[in-house]
Amino acid sequence: MINATTCKHKKLVAWVEEIAQLCTPDNIYWCDGSQEEYDRLCQQMVETGTFIKLNPEKRPGCFLARSNPGDVARVEDRTFICTAKREDAGPTNNWMDPEEMKTILRGHLKGAMRGRTMYVIPFSMGPLGSHIAQIGVEITDSPYVVANMRIMTRMGSKVLDVLGEDGYFVPCIHSVGMPLEPGQKDVAWPCDKDHKYIVHFPEENKIVSYGSGYGGNALLGKKCLALRIASNMAHREGWLAEHMLILGAESPEGETTYVAAAFPSACGKTNFAMLIPPEGFKGWKIWTVGDDIAWIKPGKDGRFYAINPEAGFFGVAPGTSEKSNYNAMASVRANTIFTNVALTDDGDVWWEGMTKEAPAHLIDWQGNDWTPDCGRPAAHPNSRFTAPTAQCPTISPEWDNPAGVPISAFIFGGRVSSNMPLIFQAFNWGHGVYLAATMGSEKTAAAAGKIGEIRRDPYAMLPFCGYNMGDYFDHWLDMGRKNNIPVPIFRVNWFLKKDGQFLWPGFGDNMRVLKWIIDRAHGRGHAVESPIGYMPTYEDIDWTGLDITPEQFDELMTVDKQAWKQELLAQEELFMRLSERLPRELIMERQMLLARLNRSADTFVPPHTK
Ligand code: OXD
Ligand code: MN
Repeated sequence: MINATTCKHKKLVAWVEEIAQLCTPDNIYWCDGSQEEYDRLCQQMVETGTFIKLNPEKRPGCFLARSNPGDVARVEDRTFICTAKREDAGPTNNWMDPEEMKTILRGHLKGAMRGRTMYVIPFSMGPLGSHIAQIGVEITDSPYVVANMRIMTRMGSKVLDVLGEDGYFVPCIHSVGMPLEPGQKDVAWPCDKDHKYIVHFPEENKIVSYGSGYGGNALLGKKCLALRIASNMAHREGWLAEHMLILGAESPEGETTYVAAAFPSACGKTNFAMLIPPEGFKGWKIWTVGDDIAWIKPGKDGRFYAINPEAGFFGVAPGTSEKSNYNAMASVRANTIFTNVALTDDGDVWWEGMTKEAPAHLIDWQGNDWTPDCGRPAAHPNSRFTAPTAQCPTISPEWDNPAGVPISAFIFGGRVSSNMPLIFQAFNWGHGVYLAATMGSEKTAAAAGKIGEIRRDPYAMLPFCGYNMGDYFDHWLDMGRKNNIPVPIFRVNWFLKKDGQFLWPGFGDNMRVLKWIIDRAHGRGHAVESPIGYMPTYEDIDWTGLDITPEQFDELMTVDKQAWKQELLAQEELFMRLSERLPRELIMERQMLLARLNRSADTFVPPHTK
């Protein structure tokens, strides 16, 4: 049993005591991470109404939680980076002076856990003891957070063993912000409806989250530690903390090539991480290492080695089906926590897109009766599953390797319906940094703003880069300079449209593009030079089993000179916004691209080589 008496780490014990004094919980409980503890907490949440146990024959070991309707997603406008100097947080982050923020937070945290248990969660982001991993300790008053953290991280007493007497940990404080008066009945999803703060102090590696119990706001290992705080650590220490999936592609000859890929949300990241190669790619196999975050360190051999710091998937449920992502569906068959999805009459879950036809009756994500004609979604669009990574049928045998996997290519892709070819390769590292920095994605119905408008999302890191984005670009340039085997960088776009129809089938067929990327990464793939980068010709792509004509391929690969000049003009807004710390190399890359476009014909398509 671990507690303040048995824990050998005096600083940790003192910090827990300090937070307990401030938040005044009724009890303090140190999590050991055992199955018995998890089962007990889940049972307790069933009794308090936070969890609904799903039908054990349909979803063994699974639970459904329904959040407060006002607490359903990450709150970017309440997310802060508190650095001594505002410029260090940069123009893409909300900033507040650290001391001012601490005063506000202290006010909210004072007595915030009254009537509740304060849980102490030691967790490791990354395989235990890996030189790339980091340890955090989250204090929370939410048992829902404890259960989710047990799936999403390596958690419990084994982490304290690694921490020893004086190991380094990132302190993370979380409170749902709803103290209970004596005798006051709790609600199924406590939160503070009026005040939410997701706060990072990167100069001290500290996180405080108040008022929300949902996802990235509350599971502090994920976006808060593994991206916002870790991106700062990586900047200082010479590594990379990225919003990237990691996959290994094994060829029929048994050669496995690992790539890391960044996509903004709603661009099929989880599908790509769990891709099933199309028929005709006999003997090819995709191994999933991670679906959301990659920590990447240069090894002694000059290559980049990546780990997935997480141990679970916190995936968006709607749109996931046996057809769109068989492996994700297999991952959530058991031992999964579902949040804000619909409940079927036989105690299973359902969400939009899971099956072609909706069941005749459901209980929706807010607990109300639902029928297909009622005009409301049954599951919240941001409803989630929390499932152990190890349950994925394509989980890589290397996913838990403390040394990480060697990365042979970086891939960046947004959702763009025109004028952004299916695939091209950066000429060099600096050009690749420019392509990733200017990445845009069209707004979908879920985001504010005009549908179809391009939102710049550099590196898919806009909400997650914990420091000045200009410095972040410079850090990437610097990593390329220091690394003696520069990794090739690619842009992809699965979302080109013509007359409202997608031009590219996507899903498993993305393997065709990935195969060319792998060939290029190994220095054996053929390419031609276009004004915007190296491109495959029609003949360079393996089309076995897919009917795509050379003319259709031309449509997927066209570079329209005037449209690209418009794109360069549109990039100006981002460059102006970041101008104070924008590396000059990126301005130069833009100029060089303009010069190449000026010299090119009105339209470019890769020549047909046969
Ligand atoms: C996520 C996100 O939840 O990127 O992974 O928003
Ligand atoms: Mn993500």
